[in-house]
Amino acid sequence: VERTLSIIKPDATTRNLTGKINAKFEDAGLRIVAQKRIQLTKAQAGEFYAVHKERPFYDELCEFMASAPVVVQVLEGEGAIAKNRDVMGATNPADAAAGTIRAEFAESVGENSVHGSDAPETAAEEIAYFFSGLELVG
Ligand code: GTP
Ligand code: MG
Repeated sequence: VERTLSIIKPDATTRNLTGKINAKFEDAGLRIVAQKRIQLTKAQAGEFYAVHKERPFYDELCEFMASAPVVVQVLEGEGAIAKNRDVMGATNPADAAAGTIRAEFAESVGENSVHGSDAPETAAEEIAYFFSGLELVG
């Protein structure tokens, strides 16, 4: 089975939405096989989002991700990467389909409640960034 890295972002943790977002994952058939609440530094956020370094919103994104705790988690299931991105909805909540996490909870294109890996290679890298093998209990 496939695994993907999910992050519940500061806009959602500060509004106490972790449980409601986790219910969306579980209702979609995704299993939370690892999870922890952590405070990222801006430097750590920058390292995680290094792929976006040249984008105009990079600095704002790193500030935001370090502004309050995040919940990092590993989701497992058949086609977990695509399934998670379906449940998340479009990056901009204005474009997100009804019933998706971003349609229901996101505040803006930047403060959009969740992150999800976009491909098998990035999923493996992102999981290893936050979790050791011992922490993954399927
Ligand atoms: P992630 O799952 O978080 O990677 O979202 P995504 O794959 O739907 O979007 P993308 O990888 O293109 O962008 C990464 C993150 O950067 C987004 O989730 C947003 O938080 C942020 N972001 C993207 N576009 C903008 C923007 O135009 N302005 C701001 N402030 N942030 C943006
Ligand atoms: Mg992305």
